[in-house]
Amino acid sequence: MQTKLEQIELSAMTDLDSIQDEESLEQWRVTNLGRSSPIMDVFNALGGLPKEERPVVGKRANEVKHTIEAAYESKSVAIKNAALTRSLQSERLDVTLPGRPIVKGRLHPATQTLREIYRIFGEMGFQIYRSREVETDEFNFQLLNFPPHHPAREMQDSYYIESAIDRGDDPLLLRTHTSPGQVHAMREYVAQSPQDPPPIRIILPGMCYRYEQISARYEIQFTQVEGLAVGKRITFGDLKGTISDFARRLLGQQVRTRFRASHFPFTEPSAEVDFECFLCNGEGCSVCKQTGWLEIMGCGMVHPVVLQNGGYDPAVYSGYAFGMGPERLTMLRYRIEDIRNFWANDLRFLEQF
Ligand code: PHE
Repeated sequence: MQTKLEQIELSAMTDLDSIQDEESLEQWRVTNLGRSSPIMDVFNALGGLPKEERPVVGKRANEVKHTIEAAYESKSVAIKNAALTRSLQSERLDVTLPGRPIVKGRLHPATQTLREIYRIFGEMGFQIYRSREVETDEFNFQLLNFPPHHPAREMQDSYYIESAIDRGDDPLLLRTHTSPGQVHAMREYVAQSPQDPPPIRIILPGMCYRYEQISARYEIQFTQVEGLAVGKRITFGDLKGTISDFARRLLGQQVRTRFRASHFPFTEPSAEVDFECFLCNGEGCSVCKQTGWLEIMGCGMVHPVVLQNGGYDPAVYSGYAFGMGPERLTMLRYRIEDIRNFWANDLRFLEQF
C-alpha cells in the first residue's frame, strides 16, 4: 500500500509538469483527485486493511492527497497568471503612436446659413416665430389674398394631404411658403391685447414644400425665412433700410442692393430684391450671368386685406414682409451647383462645410 501511494503521488506530479492550459488542468484534476481517482480508491480500500495498518496508510494517503491538491492550486494560479501576462503583452500600449483623431460633427450648411440669418435679425431686434408645416388652404392661400382657383397659385404647386374628411375649398396641404405664419402670428399678437394690438417684428423660418420636378435648380423641400414687421407708420423706407442693412451685415459694408417692382397677392406694392453679386463684386460672372446682381428675396408692404385677416386695422397699422431661401444664399456663397445636394445626405458633400 505504501509504495502504491508513492507511485500515485509521483505519477500525478509528473503529469502535472507538462500541463500548460486550464482545460488539460481540469482533466488532470478529474483523473487525480476525482471520485474514481487512484487516491480515492485507496481511501475506499482503507476499511478492508488489517486494523494496525489503517492509521499509517490513512495518514500517508491524506498527505498524498494534500500534496496533489496543493500542486493543483499553485498550477492553476500559474496558468492564470501566464494568460494574463500574454494578453497584456499583446495589448501593450505604444505611447509613441500618433493619437486617433476625434471625428467632430458639424451643422448642415443650410442650418449654418439659417443661424447666421437668425443672428443678424436678432441683432436688429427680430424674434423667431415658428408655425406649422401642415397648413390649411385658408392660411396658405386664402387669407393671403389668393382666392380659390386664383392663377397666382400656379406658381406654388402643392402637396395636398389626402384626408377622409372632405374639407371642400379648404383642404390640408404642406405649406408652400412661410407666409401663412404671418397671419398666425398677427392673430396671436392681437389676442394678447385686442384693444391695442402690439407691434410685431419677427422672422419665421422653416421647411416648405412644393410639387416640383426635381432638378439641379428645384427641390420639393427647401427652407425659407420670412420676415414680418407690423406697427404704426411703418413705410417702404423701413423695408428698404432693413433689407439693405441685412445685406451689409451678411456680406460686408460695401454691398449694394436694388429693388425691382414685382407682384405677390399678399403684398402691395411688391418687389424683388437683388444683392450685388458677391462673387465678382458686381463686375459680372457666370454665377450672376454677367449682370452683376443676384436675386435674393421677395418682399413688399403687407396687403391691407392680409392685415385685416390678421386682426390689424389697415387704417391704423401698416407693415412689411419679405421672404428668402437660405439654400439659395448658401449655393451662391459656396458656388454649389446642384440644390439636390442639400437633402441627399451625402457625407462627401456635407463634410466640406
Ligand atoms: N412667400 C413668397 C414666396 O414664397 C415670398 C414673399 C414673402 C414675398 C413675403 C413677399 C413677402 O415666393
